[in-house]
Amino acid sequence: MPKIRTAVFPVAGRGTRFLPATKAHPKEMLPIVDKPLIQYAVEEALDAGAEKLVFVTGTSKRAIEDHFDVDPDLERALERSGKTDLLDAVRNIVPPGVTCLYVRQGRPLGLGHAVLCTREAIGDEPFFVHLADDLIHSEEPCLKQMAEHHAEHGCSVLGVETVPMDQTGNYGVVAVEAEPSGAQRVTSIVEKPKPEDAPSNLAVVGRYILTPAIYDHLSQTGKGAGGEIQLTDGIASLLHDEAVHVLRFEGRRYDCGSKIGYLRATVEYALRHPELGENFRAYLQGVWER
Ligand code: G1P
Repeated sequence: MPKIRTAVFPVAGRGTRFLPATKAHPKEMLPIVDKPLIQYAVEEALDAGAEKLVFVTGTSKRAIEDHFDVDPDLERALERSGKTDLLDAVRNIVPPGVTCLYVRQGRPLGLGHAVLCTREAIGDEPFFVHLADDLIHSEEPCLKQMAEHHAEHGCSVLGVETVPMDQTGNYGVVAVEAEPSGAQRVTSIVEKPKPEDAPSNLAVVGRYILTPAIYDHLSQTGKGAGGEIQLTDGIASLLHDEAVHVLRFEGRRYDCGSKIGYLRATVEYALRHPELGENFRAYLQGVWER
């Protein structure tokens, strides 16, 4: 099975839940300690073997392009002042040999439409889709775990976890059955069902490996939940033609699209941070005892 070379990052969404912070600033550039969410996303995809990064952007997203571009003035200034650690940190965001492409999603028609916009950029090979709002901390990067599953089975793979039943309305939700191989095959998928309509409480988090067959299905997909073209509906259609598996990945997910999830991630990443962790732990203990 050839390795997956391309990762898609849909970053056109406006991030209204974080207004006014996201009025002129992409939500994907919100930092968790000292790196923006989108950089964690890119690092995970690179660790899984991606060499081509396709960002689906929209209005007010220029900062993302700047972040992954070279900044010769900044590099010269850091070099002159001998700040070699910082120089390395800004220089190595995108390693040599990795290409960044930016595709514009002109109108906010939904996640399915965002993925469809990448058709020309990707062509006829499987690809990752990574939603930067879902930050996952794990020993082995989540997309890498999924790429290993894909290498073995060759089909589309969705990253899933169980969620409380009253939260099904926030996710794509799947029903699955076990294949003889032990792999879990999707039998149905629904976007943001009410708990009483949900096929289970197994939710798709923002990690996908999709075969290129998804494009034909997305091109036929009409508006779904929220009046948007949903990736979930494209996958529901793909199920008629191909197997789609789920992977219950190892790792802890933070929903950084919500304020509480973002705060949890900030605290826990700060506690794990090699330079700040110890100090921050002492500080938190102090706050707790106050
Ligand atoms: C999107 C998808 C949904 C998925 C979720 C994961 O929803 O449409 O199927 O479960 O991401 O975070 P959003 O959170 O963008 O509304």
